[in-house]
Amino acid sequence: MPESITITDNRSGTSIEIPIENGGIDAAEWRRFLPGVWFCDPGLATTAATTSSITELDGDNGVLRYRGYPIEQLAEQSSFLEVAYLLVHGELPTRAQHDEWVYEITHHTFVHDNFRKRIYDAFHYDAHPMGLLTSGVAALSTFYPEAKEIENPKIRMEQIVRLIAKMPTLAAAAYRHSQGQPYVFPDNLLGYPENFLNMMYRMGGEYEIHPVLGKAMEILLILHADHEQNCSTTAARVVGSSHADPYTSVAAACAALYGPRHGGANEAVINMLDEIGDYSDVDSFMKTVKSGENRLMGFGHRVYKNYDPRAKIIKKSAYDVFEVTGKNPRLDLALKIEEIATNDSYFIDRRLYPNVDFYSGLIYQSMGFPTEMFTVLFAIGRTPGWLAHWNEMMEQGSRIARPRQLYTGPEMRDFVPLSER
Ligand code: SDX
Repeated sequence: MPESITITDNRSGTSIEIPIENGGIDAAEWRRFLPGVWFCDPGLATTAATTSSITELDGDNGVLRYRGYPIEQLAEQSSFLEVAYLLVHGELPTRAQHDEWVYEITHHTFVHDNFRKRIYDAFHYDAHPMGLLTSGVAALSTFYPEAKEIENPKIRMEQIVRLIAKMPTLAAAAYRHSQGQPYVFPDNLLGYPENFLNMMYRMGGEYEIHPVLGKAMEILLILHADHEQNCSTTAARVVGSSHADPYTSVAAACAALYGPRHGGANEAVINMLDEIGDYSDVDSFMKTVKSGENRLMGFGHRVYKNYDPRAKIIKKSAYDVFEVTGKNPRLDLALKIEEIATNDSYFIDRRLYPNVDFYSGLIYQSMGFPTEMFTVLFAIGRTPGWLAHWNEMMEQGSRIARPRQLYTGPEMRDFVPLSER
């Protein structure tokens, strides 16, 4: 059987055959054959917005690979900066490439002091850290005007290094601002996750980072590093397709991530568990989900119709963290929810399983992060993924994103002066 489809326009009786390649068909063939007839696909659930060689998901089998490497192996054996190199450059680094990459990122962690004095300090003390981060990333574009030279691969790579390096600094500063605490400068002697935790929590003297917590932070950053054409990555690509600079494109991605349907879900899970309150109330809450009154935050996924492989790794990592921090009291609620959902036809029929956000918040909370910081942590991890896709789009020479629509508004009508209305 040929790997193709045949389309017939019944109005004219003409047909064309279109090959199926890489699991998709070329919409340009459709456009040539049926001018003025558009696919209607709100939410882009059935649309491949691009070709990409960065990340592969197999939603039915719960598979996630970065540049062909299984997420389970990377989480276990790699480091976040090594994974960031892999996503951006396409291959695991040699020792020399790795050391140069880590050196460059380590030595670009500082932000201009005007940032603190004139940007973050302009926000209310209780401003949500995602508001500061999203604004801060956009503001970074004003410090590096050369970033507009997006056709220059060397300049693109310089901004990619700067953004990966500075996200933890901006994130920790957003937290310290909300606490009314002085900012902690980056410490170039610390590893990437440890430097972030130090900027978050150091108060005066030495700040000891438990190795288990440093490792858990590393694993969480790796697990969040990329996820193909998710909502925020799509936002980065769409904004980047207008040839905006990478800071502005990543700021758009941060804005998309902020929503509770996407990266804001980890914060929403904790709020949901707090709303349930008691173990004995889980059953009644699950009934409100099945009636449509509540959404089960941290469950469901556009692609995974099986257990999100990242959720499995995070759940295991949670037990390691709780050995150090003490068990998060909400864990039992979460486990009960999972037990009910994985045995109830409502959830099974809708293929709703725990996603990356269901258990991650429990770890973050036990590590001392306030819930408002959870999406910020997601953003730090996802930055290499956003930038890898932005860079891939630039290398592909993509056209500006400009979808069409099916117009359902009123026909042409003449204006009626106010005096006659
Ligand atoms: C992330 O895309 C990515 O890769 C994202 C991400 C990444 O790494 O970038 O993986 C990160 O965003 C994970 C998802 C985090 N969001 C949540 O946990 C919020 C809760 N989940 C949902 O809102 C929802 O599942 C989405 C947004 C994740 C997916 O939405 P879809 O694919 O549009 O699915 P849908 O809303 O069309 O739902 C299909 C059916 C519906 O039932 P019916 O109306 O057909 O009867 O499933 C139901 C929905 O009502 N449903 C849920 C549900 N999710 C879907 N019902 C209860 N609880 C849920 N969580």
